[in-house]
Amino acid sequence: MAIQATDHIWHNGELIPWNKAQIHVMSHVVHYGSSVFEGIRCYSQPNGAGVFRLPEHMQRLVDSAKIYRMPLPYTAEELATAVIDVIEANGVAPCYIRPVAFRGYGEIGVNPLRSPVEVYIANFPWGKYVPGNEGADVCISSWNRMAPNTLPALAKAGANYMNSQLIRMEAEINGYAEGIALDVNGYLSEGSGENLFLVRGDVLYTTPLANSVLNGLTRSSILQLAKQLGITVVEQALPREMLYICDEAFFTGTAAEVTHLRSVDRILIGDGTMGPITTKLHKAFFDIVNGLAPDRYNWLTPVNVKVAEPVGA
Ligand SMILES: Cc1ncc(COP(=O)(O)O)c(C=O)c1O
Repeated sequence: MAIQATDHIWHNGELIPWNKAQIHVMSHVVHYGSSVFEGIRCYSQPNGAGVFRLPEHMQRLVDSAKIYRMPLPYTAEELATAVIDVIEANGVAPCYIRPVAFRGYGEIGVNPLRSPVEVYIANFPWGKYVPGNEGADVCISSWNRMAPNTLPALAKAGANYMNSQLIRMEAEINGYAEGIALDVNGYLSEGSGENLFLVRGDVLYTTPLANSVLNGLTRSSILQLAKQLGITVVEQALPREMLYICDEAFFTGTAAEVTHLRSVDRILIGDGTMGPITTKLHKAFFDIVNGLAPDRYNWLTPVNVKVAEPVGA
């Protein structure tokens, strides 16, 4: 989906024009992938708009930077305020928000320590990510997720998305909406940009952090909702074939939200429609983010913007 430009981007504490948010080709990040970033959604509700799990997203950005020894000159709280500032300055909601911190123009060479850290925050309208309302037809990727102690999966780093790109391109070229990667031991890991859940019987399963997955905020929200709904949740290593014999499966993610899987490797999951447990969780999630149910977990940070019609809804 093409990016829709807005008026302003936040850069190191200032709002600058969208077209001025440029970097030098010799910036460290261009050559060595030295960036960490976030993807966040701002949803519209009947009385305004709210950013989903903003403090947690900013904490994850701070954590990602810490893993890469990247000194961020802002706290998670300051970055959360900056997100609100840029959304309100642009007056665009609902929207997608992209904070990114990276090593800029300084030295050539792998060592990033003497290249400056730059922080930008952009927001823009954005709709559905995994195509198909009827459920996604996905495949198991021939690419594995990063091995433990290679690229740290808990850091949301730009470099990890080279692996995601391999997964996503292969899926698209072979006619699938998305690919699911196994970890290096052959256990289910995650999609190129989504966490994975499946249901067998009345138990909800998801892959644990040790299987090279990002600690997704949608994942943690679904786990919270499942507990509240009295659904038994098991986080354990899962063999690939569990996906072929499960009753329901779905992706979670800021971009994918809650997207049910219709088939894996052309094997139908259940009868291909959204199953009862996924439907319950899907509804509980969207009721909160769309403001149709009380925000009982304080997931939404309000922004003062006149709300447009949802994009791609
Ligand atoms: C690799 C990967 N896994 C999982 C997720 C889901 O995380 P979240 O729910 O925080 O968006 C994402 C999206 O950020 C991702 O890129």
